[in-house]
Amino acid sequence: MPEPLFRFPEGFRWGVAVSSHQVEGNNRNNNWWAWEQQEGRIKEGHRSGLACDWWRNAEADFDRAAEMGLNALRLSVEWSRIEPRPGEFDSNALERCAEMLRGLCQRQIEPMVTLHHFSDPLWLSDRGGWENPQTIALFARFARQVVEALQPYCDLWYTVNEPNVYGYSGYLEGTFPPGKSELKAAMTVIRHMVEGHAAAYREIHTLQPQARVGLCPNLRILEAANPRSPVDRLLAGIADRAFNRTILTALSQGRWTFPLGRGPADDVQNTLDWIGLNYYTRDLIAFDRRQSQALFSRRLHAAAAELLDGGYGEFYPLGMYRFLQQLAALDLPIYVTENGIPDQDDDQRPRYLLAHLHQVWRGLQAGWPIRGYYHWTLVDNFEWDDGWTLRFGLIAMDPQTQARTPRRSAGLYSEITGANAISREMVSAEAPELLAEPRAVGPQTTAS
Ligand code: GCO
Repeated sequence: MPEPLFRFPEGFRWGVAVSSHQVEGNNRNNNWWAWEQQEGRIKEGHRSGLACDWWRNAEADFDRAAEMGLNALRLSVEWSRIEPRPGEFDSNALERCAEMLRGLCQRQIEPMVTLHHFSDPLWLSDRGGWENPQTIALFARFARQVVEALQPYCDLWYTVNEPNVYGYSGYLEGTFPPGKSELKAAMTVIRHMVEGHAAAYREIHTLQPQARVGLCPNLRILEAANPRSPVDRLLAGIADRAFNRTILTALSQGRWTFPLGRGPADDVQNTLDWIGLNYYTRDLIAFDRRQSQALFSRRLHAAAAELLDGGYGEFYPLGMYRFLQQLAALDLPIYVTENGIPDQDDDQRPRYLLAHLHQVWRGLQAGWPIRGYYHWTLVDNFEWDDGWTLRFGLIAMDPQTQARTPRRSAGLYSEITGANAISREMVSAEAPELLAEPRAVGPQTTAS
């Protein structure tokens, strides 16, 4: 029996995360499918196409997840399938979603359902999407239809995925649809998404009082490139507040803060039963007078940093601990709802997995209520504007042939979930630097 170095609590959730547009295939009725048809929007002209063919056959990958010993899986429902035209709800689409959730439950895999993960029905985009305040009520109505249909199989709901990434990417950087570059529109969209989350939270709890409803902004370590530079520190502080803190402040303290506005946010406060953490990496922020459209700042990486594929960021596991510490102060159950790296040849992922899970373990040792870890992701899928150029899967997939090939990391993750621990053998083979880390001291916290 391998010697456990870092044990996780009984009942800890070991999962993976995916989203509908990235895995289902042929989501033709949404803003992303339209975006992909526009020249130059997606790297190398890639298309989501059949994606991972989950709309027809997610069950084959559910079997792979079960074989890996996973007991949790986060997936999203595709609004454009369920409500293809405003007010018309497709019962067949809802039944296919129910069938997928039944499939997970039959495999002893607990579903976490995301209600909105970046993609919008075309009819909604045509009405201004999340810039339009009417979308808040439309989203709450959609949430009600979904929960009414799926509540026999799920009580763990994730309302809106990463409002910060959706808003900044689509309305400031212009890399996501609708490709705008308007700070005011970006702030309006993010604020409406947070209000949409709160409206959905209330709807869900009228239907399913025991529901566990949460949300997660993507959190990214944003620090001054030169800590001795006041202007670098100022710009990094602004970026950190705008990207990492303003949504959490509204939800936890009931206050809108810069740049989402000012004043009370009573209608969104106390609308979390749990808080998620989507953590990947770190950026350094430096003053750059040439970057007027980016607040005279540019993002870079530390000279000594180990970099991830495709310029995705730095190998920075300490960021996981730092954000868990920040979230622990909210006194809510925490789920790590995304963590992973693009790594086609799998030469970094085993060590990335162990190093980041070790930071989760440190958080558990500190007594923080971390309930589970969902790795991004099970199988290579459509990586938004990066298309198929970045491969996040524990399992490699050829999008043309749909052939799947488990990477070495899939075997490592299976061993971790099977042992509910990180063993000496794993660490010696893949991350020997962790051998010097302090071991378990106190009693194991339970992940109830
Ligand atoms: C995000 C999304 C995922 C991404 C993943 C890898 O955080 O952007 O939630 O859909 O695919 O994070 O970038």
